[in-house]
Amino acid sequence: MDYKLTKTSSKNAFEYKYLVSKIFPFIKPHIGRIILNLIIAVPLGLLDGVVAYALKPYMDCVINGRTFNFFGLSVEQNTLALVIPFGIVLFAVTQGILKYLNNYLTDWTGNKIANSLKVELFKKLTSLDPKFYDVNSSGIVLTRFFTDPETASKNIINTFKTIVMTGCGILGLVTVLLYNSWKLAFIGITIMAIAITPVVFIRKKIKKVSNANMIVGGDMTTNFNETFAGNKIVNAYNLQQLQNEKFENQIKTQFDLTISLTKRVGWMSPIMYFICSIGIAIVMFYGNHLIISEQMTAGSFASFITSLLLLYKPVKDLGRTLTDLQTTFVAMSRVFELFDLEPQIINKNNAIKLDRLNSGIDYEGVTFEYEQNTPVLNNFNLHIDKGETIALVGNSGGGKSTIVNLLPRFYDVQYGAIKIDGIDIREFDINSLRSNISFVFQDNYLFSGTIKENILMGNQNANDADLERVIKLAHLDEFINHLENGINTYVGERGASLSGGQRQRVAIARAMIKDAPIVILDEATSALDNESEAIVQKALNNLMQNKTVFVIAHRLSTINNANRIAVINDGNLVELGTHEQLIQIPEGAYKHLYEMQFKNQMENDSLEAV
Ligand SMILES: Nc1ncnc2c1ncn2[C@@H]1O[C@H](COP(=O)(O)OP(=O)(O)OP(=O)(O)O)[C@@H](O)[C@H]1O
Ligand SMILES: [Mg+2]
Repeated sequence: MDYKLTKTSSKNAFEYKYLVSKIFPFIKPHIGRIILNLIIAVPLGLLDGVVAYALKPYMDCVINGRTFNFFGLSVEQNTLALVIPFGIVLFAVTQGILKYLNNYLTDWTGNKIANSLKVELFKKLTSLDPKFYDVNSSGIVLTRFFTDPETASKNIINTFKTIVMTGCGILGLVTVLLYNSWKLAFIGITIMAIAITPVVFIRKKIKKVSNANMIVGGDMTTNFNETFAGNKIVNAYNLQQLQNEKFENQIKTQFDLTISLTKRVGWMSPIMYFICSIGIAIVMFYGNHLIISEQMTAGSFASFITSLLLLYKPVKDLGRTLTDLQTTFVAMSRVFELFDLEPQIINKNNAIKLDRLNSGIDYEGVTFEYEQNTPVLNNFNLHIDKGETIALVGNSGGGKSTIVNLLPRFYDVQYGAIKIDGIDIREFDINSLRSNISFVFQDNYLFSGTIKENILMGNQNANDADLERVIKLAHLDEFINHLENGINTYVGERGASLSGGQRQRVAIARAMIKDAPIVILDEATSALDNESEAIVQKALNNLMQNKTVFVIAHRLSTINNANRIAVINDGNLVELGTHEQLIQIPEGAYKHLYEMQFKNQMENDSLEAV
């Protein structure tokens, strides 16, 4: 399955049935309130017609003194002069209460649906394998996450509501129009229909621009995130100008898009008003004739004109809602495209629980590729005994990190198998497999929060005694004792307020408190100074005590502690043995590497020691 998300609308954007069936489970829990909201929308829409209707008796009876006939009941001028003004106030109060309820219910249901979508979406994101994060930019995922669920759920609720409300509004007003004069009504409605036709034609343009806008928006977010995360690099290489220009260009593109839309769409409204004004002029002209020839009362005419004017808004709203409906479906399709992604690394039926490591780990004929037809590992074989420490060395990009990333199943192998105690790791329950492995990654990633919180992420059930022990073993105690807030000191986003060595030791403590039988150590390539290197090394030695360890070594001191060394070059295991064995091989890969890289380190160390 392809993990890459489309940049704009997904292929399902026009599969309305599919989309509605997808969103329905999220709407269902709130269906009672949604229906209540729709019921409230009915009188709310109809009320507009009441105002327009009331003008007729007011003009004809109160002003012109005719007797008003209300369903066979004749009403006096004086009564009506009182009832209508009071009625208007009562009407305003009723409409106000209904509007309040309506808005409240719309927001409530809209937000509830948006939230449940987001919660499920977040669960989906945490369930996806690393590959998903390899192929998608943070900008695209962020838009999917923060904007689309909101658009999808709020619009859908609003659409229902608007259709009912404007539908009833139009129905009420048209009834009043017809009631007053069907001839005038015919003219008025025809002209209004002409006025709103252009809306249909610009829909395509709007969609094109909003797609383009989406792409720029995603790129802008990615740019922002990168500038944030890479601020040191931005400073170090004086990239401010470059980043600024990139951003300015994106902003400019966005501006151009918006303005091009405004240019093409902005004339619509004036044209609509113009056509409508012609309509009103014709209606007035013809209405005058009807009044003079006594085919219509002045009150009827006033009521008619008011209805016609009031009709403009619901018609426009309905038009806009129907146009927006496509945006809603696009947002929905984007949300459900994400929902439809299935994690590829999953538990087998009746997966076995891995309790502990008994004998050893085997890589058997492992072939692996991140991208099709570019194998990173080729028929890779390696056996590691329980309790052994194996150092992986070799050229950069050779596949060392890849080898260790396959063990916790961040990725699955294409051919061959990795076995623990002779059982394919794909047979194990993933959580149990991963709880047997402690990891210290190359980048020593920390979360925003305190040192304590970061360490406890290794084992959320650890007690204070465990915590104290690992802090000692990771040689963090002295550092922590000097901090005003001690273990409760905040480390900043990604642990930015700690030094490289400190961050690494917190990462080591996090791995240590997990106390897993297998330890994977992807050593940071960044050189630490000798003193921190020595202290980190001590911490690492403690972590590796009595464990089965894979260590990707960039430092001699680490290699010295390994039982065996595996040299990985370009995805192949080229040499395997102890330091003494490998150094004997004439022209050997390890010998070469040792002389190029590690020996220098040793000489530097001894020089500094002098
Ligand atoms: N997530 C990924 N998606 C695609 N290709 C990747 C990914 N991670 C690594 N690669 C590629 O796989 C190859 C092996 O990378 P790997 O990270 O395993 O190397 P390494 O031996 O750990 O290198 P280093 O010593 O520099 O850390 C490289 O060619 C790299 O470009
Ligand atoms: Mg690596």
